[in-house]
Amino acid sequence: MTNLRARLATAIEVTVFLAIPSAAAMVIFVAIGAMAPLAAVLAWLGVFAATLVLILPVVAALTMLSNRQSVPEDQPSMRLVPSVIGRVAAAFDQMTRELRQREDQLDAARRATRTILESLPVPLVLMSSDQTISFANQAAETILGETLVGKKLPAVLRAPALLRAAEIVISGAESQEVTFDIGVETPRRLEGYMQALGDTHPTQGTIALLLHDVTELWRTERLRADFVANASHEIRTPLATLVGAVETVLGPARDDPEARQRFLLMMQEHAERIERLVDDLLSLSRIERIEHETPGSTVTLRSVLEQACSALEWKARARSVRITLKLPDESAGVHGDADELGQVFQNLIDNAIKYGDPDSEVVVSARTIESGVTADGWKSQGPAHAITVADHGPGIAPEHLPRLTERFYRVDKARSRQLGGTGLGLAIVKHIVSRHRGALTIESEPGRGSEFTVYLNAAAKKAEPAPVK
Ligand SMILES: Nc1ncnc2c1ncn2[C@@H]1O[C@H](COP(=O)(O)OP(=O)(O)OP(=O)(O)O)[C@@H](O)[C@H]1O
Ligand SMILES: [Mg+2]
Repeated sequence: MTNLRARLATAIEVTVFLAIPSAAAMVIFVAIGAMAPLAAVLAWLGVFAATLVLILPVVAALTMLSNRQSVPEDQPSMRLVPSVIGRVAAAFDQMTRELRQREDQLDAARRATRTILESLPVPLVLMSSDQTISFANQAAETILGETLVGKKLPAVLRAPALLRAAEIVISGAESQEVTFDIGVETPRRLEGYMQALGDTHPTQGTIALLLHDVTELWRTERLRADFVANASHEIRTPLATLVGAVETVLGPARDDPEARQRFLLMMQEHAERIERLVDDLLSLSRIERIEHETPGSTVTLRSVLEQACSALEWKARARSVRITLKLPDESAGVHGDADELGQVFQNLIDNAIKYGDPDSEVVVSARTIESGVTADGWKSQGPAHAITVADHGPGIAPEHLPRLTERFYRVDKARSRQLGGTGLGLAIVKHIVSRHRGALTIESEPGRGSEFTVYLNAAAKKAEPAPVK
């Protein structure tokens, strides 16, 4: 009802406005005596009424248009309004529908961009010019911690080099590249690429920061450098002794057969040491080269372990050490290379003899497990065999355990060298076990002894014994 009255009021307003020219004409006609005043008033009222009748549907249509909240698919009442307004309304509707479609498409594109950025494996952070983070993808949160959005960059990454780069981009530079380190306990090296985006980015960021975690590469580089330094040092020491001994034999000890003999024995010992070192380095590099290829052959544990034990029998006897082999399943087989596995167990048994107490027992035992999982996350592919080499020796302090398999790492350097060790044995063991998709665990209690356990995936069928050498 109020609607109708409002529409009528608008129509009257418009009609009064439109009837002004006819009123002026009537006044002129009356003034020049062409029309009687009453006739003029009646004529004007007639014009007014006719205009009002004609204007009413137009006002109704315009009111309807202006009151509409949404664009209808088809509005029958629109067909009744004067054709020009109807066409204008239809064009307006069409335009609105197209705009809405475009908006939907833009929305979909924005969502797709966000999803792609979200799932990118490259850590990405977007931030505004005051360094407030507006977006961080999953990969960035994995490196920098969760809930980054809303925080300021300096609160998340305390790396002066990176913050300097951010300032440079904020003050107008297009992009910046920077390398920086984070973390104290477990340091990580990151490369950051910062790019100014402008204000049009879908996630509202004005600066994009792409990160590249190069920690592994950095660590490998450092390891390689350390390795070269260590290897050179290991070779230089016996080499220097060798050169000194040769000079003595050729010089002062030339006419002293006893001293010559002593120096020649020393030379032999150091030459053998260099030979062992080179052999171990070659073994290590060979294993590293083929580490990604799993061995195709199958061997029985019995043959591998018996051969390893008998190869070290003389060494054990020299220290009055008894080696006991406990093999409940005689036919237990594993996928593996007989020579490489032989090297693994010879190394472990050799260590047990060398570092265990003299006149003690070294127990080599194997057991089958349905499925194996180790503390460092290794999981067997099915049934597995766990082979443990246990000694009764001084044991190893816990702080050394994680580093034992590093190249040249020794708990007691002097003792290892004196026993002829290169410090590469356990590194070789680790790489061979890794090539066999197995695991190595070390348990030790200072004063009570150590247990080195090798986990190997069991072979499905009965294995052929390894060829006897
Ligand atoms: N059973 C063990 N008991 C105590 N310490 C051990 C034992 N096995 C290894 N270690 C320690 O770990 C270090 C590294 O062992 P690894 O076998 O790699 O080198 P190595 O025995 O010194 O040299 P190589 O094996 O080349 O003869 C040893 O120097 C020793 O200090
Ligand atoms: Mg060793």
